[in-house]
Amino acid sequence: AIAELDQSQIHKGEYLHFMEKEIFEQPKVVKDTLLYACNQENEETAGNAGNSEYPEFSYEAFSMTEKDFQEISRVRVIACGSAYHAGWVLKSVCESLARVPVQVELASEFRYNHPILEKGELVISISQSGETADTLAALKEAKKLGAKTLSIVNVKGSAIARESDFVFYTQAGPEIAVATTKAYSCQLAAGYIFSLLLAKAKGKISKEETRSLTEELFLLPGKIQQCLSFDQEILPMAKELKDADNIFFLGRGLDWAISMEGALKLKEISYIHCESYSSGELKHGTISLIEKGSPVIGLLSQEELAGKSISNIHEVRSRGAKCFAIRMEDIAIEEEDFAHNLIVPKTHPLFAGSLLVLPLQFLSYQVSLLKGFDPDKPRNLAKSVTVE
Ligand code: G6P
Repeated sequence: AIAELDQSQIHKGEYLHFMEKEIFEQPKVVKDTLLYACNQENEETAGNAGNSEYPEFSYEAFSMTEKDFQEISRVRVIACGSAYHAGWVLKSVCESLARVPVQVELASEFRYNHPILEKGELVISISQSGETADTLAALKEAKKLGAKTLSIVNVKGSAIARESDFVFYTQAGPEIAVATTKAYSCQLAAGYIFSLLLAKAKGKISKEETRSLTEELFLLPGKIQQCLSFDQEILPMAKELKDADNIFFLGRGLDWAISMEGALKLKEISYIHCESYSSGELKHGTISLIEKGSPVIGLLSQEELAGKSISNIHEVRSRGAKCFAIRMEDIAIEEEDFAHNLIVPKTHPLFAGSLLVLPLQFLSYQVSLLKGFDPDKPRNLAKSVTVE
């Protein structure tokens, strides 16, 4: 597929690796995805921070109508890898805003779990390549069961896009590095927009709320831009973690969803064993793995959950863990509890993952470099997996 791409789009330019270049492209591609969802192509007609005239997201961007949205009674997400993690974020945001239940399933498991789909259940496949064999097979199974299908894909005209009733195209552009960064960020944005439109179609949010959430979304690219400074800011933490054998990631709710992606990113390209755990589940087993010096990265962006997560962090700290915090501005912590404390700008808590993921991406990139690996070409992995 790379041979077919516009060559001008696949140069690393000033960057050492495609992964680095793609991380840096995120402010632009997330913005492009937001604009795409408004069916608007340029900044002048769409929103920007100083302008009170914000555009509206359109159902048509999903090739759907308002009625199609109104008819959705449940959502099933099927996906693999990072796209599956984006599904967990969609679940959290959609259930919170639209009050429509969302079930997230690994595409490779879906068909073998005797799937039951209800009338009105929309099946959403999320995929960067649009060619992942497991996702495609699950989508075909869902269609066979009579479901309406929507795909959120990055590659135009790909098999998954062609097979679905409805399509939303993320605007990440060609992604070359095996470890996804910008496509994942665009998938998060697509999930927010989908949830917002569903909430609107179902009458679950007021005009005012719709407007203020839309405004907040259009501020995200600028805040993602601010987070690009983690490129260097993350280095001291990367140096401390590079020789670890196991790294634990903790979070609750949306923070847990993002921690899954953070752990995957780091293990994919640094070959360090990383696992993400729901903070509350820790005491039911995982805590026995904690010993003196075990690195634990706590994600803290959800005000109402932070207190509980912090008390879970205290539990591991008192057992000798070395703790690191990646948190949203305004979440209070005791700094002395943490070896490093990284702060992302404030946004609506539902969209915090789009910022938390930046330091996590840079962490995995820098650890991979420090270990002398090529982050663009991790061993044993392929960009697009077309076998089951
Ligand atoms: C591969 C890649 C992952 C990716 C997954 C799903 O395993 O290495 O980074 O998340 O496939 O790919 P898709 O193209 O369907 O998003």
